[in-house]
Amino acid sequence: MRYMGGMNVAVIGSGGREHALIWRLSTSRGIGRIFALPGNPGTMKLAENVEIDINDRAKLLKFLAQQQVDLVVVGPEDPLAGGIVDVLEKAGIRAFGPNREAAQLEADKWFAKELMRSQSIPTAESRSFTSLNSALDYIDSRDGPFVVKATGLAKGKGVTVAYRHEDAEAALVSIMKDRVFGSAGDRVVIEECLVGVEASVLAFVSGNQVYVMDPCQDHKPVEDGNVGPMTGGMGVFCPTPTVTPEILSSVERDVFVPILDGLKREGISYRGVLFAGLMLTVNGPKVLEFNVRFGDPETQVLMMRLGSDLLELMNAVVDGKLDQVNPRWDERAAVGVVAASRGYPGLYPTGIEINGVDEAGALEDVCVFHSGTKRYGAALQTAGGRVLTVTALGSDMEAARSRAYEAMSKISFEGMHYRKDIGARTSGR
Ligand code: AMP
Ligand code: GLY
Repeated sequence: MRYMGGMNVAVIGSGGREHALIWRLSTSRGIGRIFALPGNPGTMKLAENVEIDINDRAKLLKFLAQQQVDLVVVGPEDPLAGGIVDVLEKAGIRAFGPNREAAQLEADKWFAKELMRSQSIPTAESRSFTSLNSALDYIDSRDGPFVVKATGLAKGKGVTVAYRHEDAEAALVSIMKDRVFGSAGDRVVIEECLVGVEASVLAFVSGNQVYVMDPCQDHKPVEDGNVGPMTGGMGVFCPTPTVTPEILSSVERDVFVPILDGLKREGISYRGVLFAGLMLTVNGPKVLEFNVRFGDPETQVLMMRLGSDLLELMNAVVDGKLDQVNPRWDERAAVGVVAASRGYPGLYPTGIEINGVDEAGALEDVCVFHSGTKRYGAALQTAGGRVLTVTALGSDMEAARSRAYEAMSKISFEGMHYRKDIGARTSGR
């Protein structure tokens, strides 16, 4: 537990992922003060929430120095892609997360594709375009389905799986002409559509040392049965039985090791968490994307199952000593279900009162992680599209799933929707 002289840690971000990381860090043996920059009503109980503009680098550095912060953990991709780790390291502050060059693996899907190609890492066939007309001509000349991706950062919404030509064309027009994702759509990638079950494999990485965590299955489409538009993730379970130990070791060997080798050849050393989004096809696992950070909602289930000291693990990553730690995991299964606002992933209202969170969180082996919430006086209100991740442990998947849904049934807000099939046998593709 916390003691004077423990390590002060600042966690950047405000979502369910950061709430889960702070929750786990708060139980670390060597922890001192925890600052959430800016955090949310969930982190407020475990950390000191600080409203600070992290883009004002001078102010950020001053704050970190004043509070004697020993480690900064960067949650989201935007600051990583913006080079926050480079800035912190230059100022002599230890940071958990990749530097700007390494963060291109997520921030520039084309960079990632080229590196995968050069390292013979299994991934979808693809072409890239910077001109709308050439992209439209290409679609015209081929049979679908197509997957159209803006290559820059688009909050997980820059991907359209198009079964019809007109849907692919509409996606191209909205990205390249209407520029709905701004400069993230300067270039698009058009990929073959892979078929299979998806899985998220996250690894702690320190240079060439890799520790692969148990595999998770996220559910990106908004509706049951994997229908409807893509979201940031509507629910998750861990471990997923579809990724067998054999598949997991092949992913380490054929994906993680070669991508880190490829980066090294470019003079880039990776430190932090690297997340491979995979499609398990009949021809083996193929990479859909890399993320250079913990996943959301994957982190919520992973942190509930982590039996080791998270701070110790993060320090090992930062100090290049990952090979000296041996993380332990709870044998039980974890299921996390996201409660979302009416309209999400499209436009949604905020400021809607939420009820029942404390009651749900009081159930044994349940954590309600806050994603998009805010305090309004004594009340809790919605403040985002994904509002809460209701996460539960159970002796097996079915037990974890029924506990998560039992907890969810205690929560309500107007317009709330969530998938009913997370962790159900039918929830894969
Ligand atoms: P990404 O952000 O690249 O992982 O894409 C978001 C989601 O789009 C993935 O989780 C998949 O559900 C889907 N997706 C992306 N690429 C492909 C592909 N080549 N084939 C089929 N589905 C894909
Ligand atoms: N759950 C997928 C992501 O974090 O991008």
